[in-house]
Amino acid sequence: MRILLGVSGGIAAYKAVLLLRLLREEGHAVRVIPTASALRFVGAPTFEALSGEPVTGEVFEDVAHVPHVALGQGADLVVVAPATADLLARAAAGRADDLLTSTLLTARCPVVMAPAMHTEMWEHPATQANVATLRARGVVVIDPASGRLTGADTGPGRLPEPEEIARVALQSVPTPGAAVPRAGAGDLAGRRVVVSAGGTREPIDPVRFIGNRSSGRQGAALAEAARARGAAVTLVAANLDDDVTAAARAAGVVVVPVETTAELRDAVRAGAEDADVVVMAAAVADFRPAEVPTAKIKKVPGSGPAPISLVENPDVLAELARDRLRPGQLVVGFAAETGDADGSVLEHGRSKARRKGADLLAVNAVGGGRGFGAATNEVTILDGRGEAVAEASGSKREVADAIWDTVMKALPSI
Ligand code: CTP
Repeated sequence: MRILLGVSGGIAAYKAVLLLRLLREEGHAVRVIPTASALRFVGAPTFEALSGEPVTGEVFEDVAHVPHVALGQGADLVVVAPATADLLARAAAGRADDLLTSTLLTARCPVVMAPAMHTEMWEHPATQANVATLRARGVVVIDPASGRLTGADTGPGRLPEPEEIARVALQSVPTPGAAVPRAGAGDLAGRRVVVSAGGTREPIDPVRFIGNRSSGRQGAALAEAARARGAAVTLVAANLDDDVTAAARAAGVVVVPVETTAELRDAVRAGAEDADVVVMAAAVADFRPAEVPTAKIKKVPGSGPAPISLVENPDVLAELARDRLRPGQLVVGFAAETGDADGSVLEHGRSKARRKGADLLAVNAVGGGRGFGAATNEVTILDGRGEAVAEASGSKREVADAIWDTVMKALPSI
């Protein structure tokens, strides 16, 4: 794979050297594009020796080869690590004032950025707005790690370890030579599909989170089945196990890893802009802690547990159904129900179908060993009025195919 490694000017630039080695050891061709200030932290000869390729951040060198256009066009993956506050701002604004930012404008492949900066800079509304803008455009922005920063300070802002950056970055690209269906083959050929899967996690503090038991296997099966039927598929993957993501990538699916509901919402909406079908199979946390301290919450002997106050997350599915980001787009939801004194699994599903406004809602029973984490599944597919239109049971892949069969009947033809 041809990887461009953008390096911007922060002390963590030295870790880009380790990332470069890792990527090279995995057999990838890597070209480093540093900013001018990155070269004040790490010299060009280090990058040149380890990459075996020329290193410049200038647009006025080697002009005959038009590198500011050619590099981005020829890349399979762009990774920017570290991404400073300034680089994020320039990328979000669409600037093209050096080779790295020009390349970001010409690249059409997955782009992954790993920010690193002091906590105050990371938390500043300007930086957060830039990150949201980039994520909304489909850039994978990895949340910085928490821990020791350059000086005596600690908090979020640390560059994640090179292994973690490499893992996320390589996951974002379909495996080369993946099982790509023949052009034009399959009933979903020419369609673009976004599927969310897994369970979102809402941080309580730097080490704890509120989460759920979703394995993401039904969503991953939906993504793989759509790909096999010819669609271009993006899987927004909330905390999936590595084997689940690897299988999806091997099937030719583009994987966008996310952790929180806010990240999932940005990634799904970015993909939905030009999608024919959006399937919300993820188990989305309805609430998140109102405040997330930057340091671990300590147990104070004798004073009992500190209460955690929660605020409501946006309902991603209901928003998609309301906003219809693309005309004619089909919005599909899931309802994981246990049934209770107020109603059966199907009764809860019916009222959810009417409440959410989605075109189709796949209702499945969870709990007691069913649904989450199980190999098989059983769903009833309802239309927007809550009427059952199909039933499916079997392996998650069989259920996925039955859902696509139902989607095909509801999809306007192209
Ligand atoms: N969903 C969503 N955003 C949320 C909550 C849920 O997009 N904040 C989506 C899920 O991806 C799924 C559907 O809504 O497609 C139903 O999710 P479920 O958890 O069953 O429903 P809730 O709205 O959370 O309702 P409740 O927890 O009361 O059953």
